[in-house]
Amino acid sequence: MLGRVRAGVLEHGTVELLDRAGVAGRLHAEGLVHDGIELRFDGERHRIDFRALAGHGVTVYGQTEVTRDLMDARAASGAITIYEAQAVSLHDFDRASPKVRYVKDGIDHEIACDFIAGCDGFHGVSRASVPAGAVQAFERVHPFGWLGLMVEQPPVSDELIYASHERGFALCSMRSRHRSRYYVQVPSDERVEDWSDARFWDELRRRLDEETAERLLTGPALEKSIAPLRSFVAEPMRLGRLFLAGDAAHIVPPTGAKGLNLAMGDVGLLCAALAEFYGEKSQAGIDAYSARALARVWAAERFSWWMTSLLHRPPGMDGFARRIQRAEFDHLRSSQAAARSLAESYTGAFGVAGVTG
Ligand code: DHB
Repeated sequence: MLGRVRAGVLEHGTVELLDRAGVAGRLHAEGLVHDGIELRFDGERHRIDFRALAGHGVTVYGQTEVTRDLMDARAASGAITIYEAQAVSLHDFDRASPKVRYVKDGIDHEIACDFIAGCDGFHGVSRASVPAGAVQAFERVHPFGWLGLMVEQPPVSDELIYASHERGFALCSMRSRHRSRYYVQVPSDERVEDWSDARFWDELRRRLDEETAERLLTGPALEKSIAPLRSFVAEPMRLGRLFLAGDAAHIVPPTGAKGLNLAMGDVGLLCAALAEFYGEKSQAGIDAYSARALARVWAAERFSWWMTSLLHRPPGMDGFARRIQRAEFDHLRSSQAAARSLAESYTGAFGVAGVTG
């Protein structure tokens, strides 16, 4: 879990939720507040000023760091966490008393539950346990991937750079002031073994303007991997007493870094619904969970899909499609309304449900 490399951009509402859970101490000490991003189109630059346009910035703090903070807080609370359970299975979530069974150290266990929160990722057992036909899946697989590289060097720029180039998309991101994360768009069938560090740096430089390319500090890759780009939503997100949350229910392409923020929105809603159930003996939040979560999910799916379409070069792209991208970029430069729309979606003005409304 802690070995996986994921985006590190937290919306304001996500930070608020972590604050309310009392796990944001290190985040505030080490996270970097960013008030904007830079877009590049064939070397031309345009900054989107989040604070001016949407009233908030975002916080750059690695997803693995969030996971670490949550695991530490959980351990400190004395609550039991079982790691590396084998043969996990879900039972009777369509009845009043669902159960989770698993094997640990060769011994069978069963947990009697009121509810099951299925937060076990895209390949987890939760969604797979739902009878065929009870969930409907909606999907787009984008015909390219992201080759990402982590390096122990200061970032090339104080803010993230999203670059659209004839050779394909490139992203300059970071985890801290001394650790940088870079990506280049590659074909879906590309193999990471075919990318030496030198080839990666060369390709990245070509997709940036000259001045940025010259400033780029390179070094040996701490990590290098290829991520596919996929949009996926399963509906509904509640089946009886089973709730799907995070990647168990939906995937966004990485452009715009919505994945973790969406998962946080789900658990924020779920937490409020369960508090209502136990505190006020009301089913209302539970009954509304799926519809409320899906409204946010589709808003983020739209944004991630749009930002992906704006910046990438799909195979076989023709002159018409490239010129439409160019016009979209010019529209963002000339229309404050267009820039504000990007800023609102990027910073999460649609809010983490249960926190900012
Ligand atoms: C990162 C990933 C993203 O998808 C993004 O939009 C911004 C940053 C990252 O890994 O740092």
